[in-house]
Amino acid sequence: MKRKLILDVDTGIDDAIGIILAVKSRQFEILGITTVNGNVSLESATQNTCKVLHLLDEEDIPVIKGANAPLLRNSYFEHAVHGQDGLGGALLDAPIKKQPDEGFAPDFMINSILSFSGEVTLVLTGPLTNLALALKKCPEIVHHVKEVIFMGGVVQGPGNVTPTAEYNVYVDPEAAKLVLDAGFASLTQVGLDVTRKALLTDEHISRIENGELREFVDQSTADYRKRYFERNRVSGCAMHDPLAVAVALNKNLVTTEKYYCDVEMKSELCDGQLVCDIQERLGKRTNLQVCTTVLVEEFFDMFLSIVNS
Ligand code: RIB
Ligand code: CA
Repeated sequence: MKRKLILDVDTGIDDAIGIILAVKSRQFEILGITTVNGNVSLESATQNTCKVLHLLDEEDIPVIKGANAPLLRNSYFEHAVHGQDGLGGALLDAPIKKQPDEGFAPDFMINSILSFSGEVTLVLTGPLTNLALALKKCPEIVHHVKEVIFMGGVVQGPGNVTPTAEYNVYVDPEAAKLVLDAGFASLTQVGLDVTRKALLTDEHISRIENGELREFVDQSTADYRKRYFERNRVSGCAMHDPLAVAVALNKNLVTTEKYYCDVEMKSELCDGQLVCDIQERLGKRTNLQVCTTVLVEEFFDMFLSIVNS
């Protein structure tokens, strides 16, 4: 029996690779891919998601649009990282065959989770706005979802938007706070602490056997890897979102620690920081499984074996 999955994305380059991994793993019954405003606009994220499903010849997978802005804040696009189109200029000429399905992502999440109580895995790789809206409308989904895994935050290292904040939490900290406080029994954070170690290199890309997929991954990550080389003298693309999908596929790729975590929402300097009470100074009940280490080689072995399957 395949595990039921809802993938929530702000497709972007690494979201697209995460979608490829989830679809080609054949280990999920993908109930739907929900889209959210994040790296790029909701419209672009949705169109990019449909393009990737067309690339995979999997256009029957429902794509449901969600929030077109964070809960309270203005949009904060990342075109400098993902390009004007959101896919690093790849698939620019791809035909827009698939259109998004009817409905609103938070409602789709609620209906799916309640219809398949205890069976739905939620993987989120963008700002947590859609899940936060679903929780506001139907708090009891907390008791019916199987597990929630999200790419976001950073615990021990620097941020990637500000010195302390990671992008997905920074864009909608109020949404992240709602998710952290909701009381999910199984809530796992895949943060920069581990995703920065999963660097896709030219060598990995050369080992993708399918020409179309290899060309997409090569083209979409080209600028990203070039900029990474300029800054770090290593050519690489951090597999932030694909690692979150991989954790849903195989939890043994990471080790986790349970902590109480909160989100800074009122600071000039540290706004959007995921604050992790590692030393348990606040005496609060733990609410988050934090990924602390990752088996990088095993991740890429899994990634390549799935993409080449
Ligand atoms: O910080 C990395 C995260 O922000 C990834 O999900 C990337 O796609 C962007 O959304
Ligand atoms: Ca993303």
